[in-house]
Amino acid sequence: MTIEKGRVALVTGASRGIGRAIAVQLAANGARVVATARDEGELRTLANETGADYVVGSVDTPAGCARIVEEAIERIGPIDILVNNAGIMGGLAPVWDLDPDAWRATLAVNLDAPFELTRRVAGAMVERGYGRIVMVSSTAGQNGFAEFSAYCTSKHGLLGLMRSVAQDVGAHGVTCNAVCPGGVHTPMTDEWLDLVEADGGSREAAYAEAAAMYLPKRLLTPDEIAATVVFLASEEASGINGEAVKIAFGNYR
Ligand SMILES: NC(=O)c1ccc[n+]([C@@H]2O[C@H](COP(=O)([O-])OP(=O)(O)OC[C@H]3O[C@@H](n4cnc5c(N)ncnc54)[C@H](OP(=O)(O)O)[C@@H]3O)[C@@H](O)[C@H]2O)c1
Repeated sequence: MTIEKGRVALVTGASRGIGRAIAVQLAANGARVVATARDEGELRTLANETGADYVVGSVDTPAGCARIVEEAIERIGPIDILVNNAGIMGGLAPVWDLDPDAWRATLAVNLDAPFELTRRVAGAMVERGYGRIVMVSSTAGQNGFAEFSAYCTSKHGLLGLMRSVAQDVGAHGVTCNAVCPGGVHTPMTDEWLDLVEADGGSREAAYAEAAAMYLPKRLLTPDEIAATVVFLASEEASGINGEAVKIAFGNYR
């Protein structure tokens, strides 16, 4: 798997979880990584460990996305690889109880931000004749899950965006693909278990139920997702465009 040395990779949501693993693996494969998220302390630690650069900021507004892209380009150079990974679970409730503000906040981070970031880098990739864009969607982008309507909608939308962008850029040496992970053990999973507990449920039972959905009876690791993202970002993946790669131990959901 080759990332040509010095390719610039912008990774969102790189302060923890899946995004951090992606940043670490891209850097280990020779990319010049620009990690972005809101938590400066975590980004600094990542930078010290990997040599990555970082830009602190939120992707929840178009202006925030614009600033991140501008700062990354100014400091490191044109972006060759964009990984749209930042995401939030959003409001968890049946649709009749879902707070419309939670709906909008979820779509802003999980769908509007990938659009804003992609539109700001894709044109230059097409002009240079090279680029890799990878969206981190979810099995929730392929199925509905009770009480997850905002999250599922955002992740379905992300696949639509990915497939359309793939058609826009595909004649110009640029690809756009997605990964659709099942349950991955990350701080987001812990946040969900906190909510279960706060609701009077058992953390252990909820975790065991989630793990039981998968044949090996465990959740995925961030590294298992990052490896596929790095492959899709590699030179060798030039023939793969517009694909959603499910990473879920063969599970049907
Ligand atoms: N965990 C799973 O089971 C699972 C399964 C399928 C897909 N996914 C998807 O994988 C991606 C990563 O999830 P994860 O489990 O690693 O989640 P996580 O541990 O909660 O990490 C989320 C990342 O997104 C960043 N982020 C959140 N809101 C942001 C904002 N407004 N502006 C900038 N950055 C923001 C966070 O950084 P800061 O807080 O520092 O800003 C953090 O780095 C998400 O898109 C998620 O939907 C996760």
